[in-house]
Amino acid sequence: MNIQLLNKTISDTSTDITVAFLTKEKLAEHEQAKILKQAGFVAEQDSTCFLHELGILACGIESKHNDDMRSAASVAIKLLKASNNESASFSVNAKNIQAIIEGLLLGGYEFNDYKSKPKSSKLKDVYLVGDDIDALKDIFQEAIIIAEATCFTRDIVNMIPEDLNPPSFADLAKKLAKENDLECTILDEKELHKEKMGSMLAVGRASIHESKLIHLVYKPKNPKKVVSLIGKGLTYDSGGLSLKPATSMVTMKMDKAGGCAVLGMIKAASELKLDVEIHAFIGAVENMIGGNAYKPDDVLVSRSGTTIEVRNTDAEGRLVLADVLTYAQDKVKADYIFDFATLTGACMVALGQYTTGVMGHSHRLKHDIAKSASESGELTGSLPFNRHLKKLLKSELADISNVSSKPFGGAITAGLFLDNFIQEKNKNKWLHFDIAGSAYTESPWDCNVYGGTGAGVRLMSHFLKNIQ
Ligand code: BES
Ligand code: ZN
Ligand code: ZN
Repeated sequence: MNIQLLNKTISDTSTDITVAFLTKEKLAEHEQAKILKQAGFVAEQDSTCFLHELGILACGIESKHNDDMRSAASVAIKLLKASNNESASFSVNAKNIQAIIEGLLLGGYEFNDYKSKPKSSKLKDVYLVGDDIDALKDIFQEAIIIAEATCFTRDIVNMIPEDLNPPSFADLAKKLAKENDLECTILDEKELHKEKMGSMLAVGRASIHESKLIHLVYKPKNPKKVVSLIGKGLTYDSGGLSLKPATSMVTMKMDKAGGCAVLGMIKAASELKLDVEIHAFIGAVENMIGGNAYKPDDVLVSRSGTTIEVRNTDAEGRLVLADVLTYAQDKVKADYIFDFATLTGACMVALGQYTTGVMGHSHRLKHDIAKSASESGELTGSLPFNRHLKKLLKSELADISNVSSKPFGGAITAGLFLDNFIQEKNKNKWLHFDIAGSAYTESPWDCNVYGGTGAGVRLMSHFLKNIQ
């Protein structure tokens, strides 16, 4: 599907279908209002009415708000792709063009790599028609870059563990580095030993795939700021010896979504040519069982020197992140440190499956992120730290336990575990994003379809774009 921007003056180009977004109020003014009403169309959000003979697809919207436009454009593109039409046009303006592009590219996204006969669609050309094309050009290009980076993240989240394991994750990062002119360093297990990453190494010990630490750098000429992005890249999480129940294990290929998201973010930032230096660190590891698996009762020595009592091998993401966060802080003096991880089922209990949990010490930073989230169409919720929850990670044997002693507030205690590995000088520069619910879905919602959602990419692209 090809998306093009067209000036209204040359837009007499007739397309098979013209899409009209209509609020209840605007419905009355439409030239086909009578027929639409007769068909029972009342312009409710996400409702549609296809007037094939007239070449009109009417889509209901609650308001002209971008969230409503994005959702309606997602509904529209699915219908158009399933129809026999080859071209469609949407009228756009500077305010809604990004949301419409996201609706089209993200709502119309399909992942067919594992289908022997992928569905084909006749829809070839989509025209976005606007008044002042010069004013729209840049926003158009930016929106396409961000939506495509989100789809790139989805593509790799959707790959099966057979195809995307720590070594192939590293190869994929190398390929991106080559294409986008990024620096790329990969640490193998021998080098991870040298770097004293005992906590990360323990998690991957029973896997047939060697653990890898991936470090990509985007370095513009005069960066305004330096940002470190850290991603949990568990290419499979079986739970380890604290094995997950059968039904909870299904979908655990998505436990690499944090790593996939930071790859999408650095891809977007480099293509947008932002004036921000970006470091992406991914701990790519597979959590499996076997004779050499790490165990509940082990004590691990992390890179920071902090010793960790393992009481549950399924709380593995924090063990990987502990070392990758330490490594990132040791190697790069960043202005912002953000980690993205499908860290806890508890985050979904707290916020629901659509919302990313945001944790950290800086209220100001959390406020700025909340603004970027709402302006980019992602959902975030702040989960507050407190000193009482922090005490629940106490260990009698080692410096800290990898799980809380109480079954409540699990997303926050996981965030507080990570806080132990944030150096004092970086406390206000760091935020943790728990994307356990938001990164993957088995039923469509908003502009998300089955599989990876690319959570974090739009939000972080917006934040990085607006850094002063
Ligand atoms: N990868 C999981 C968290 C997860 C669960 C992500 C469901 C997406 C959907 C993580 O490694 C995990 O297993 N966490 C445990 C922690 C517990 C053992 C303290 C959990 O959430 O149950
Ligand atoms: Zn786990
Ligand atoms: Zn996990």
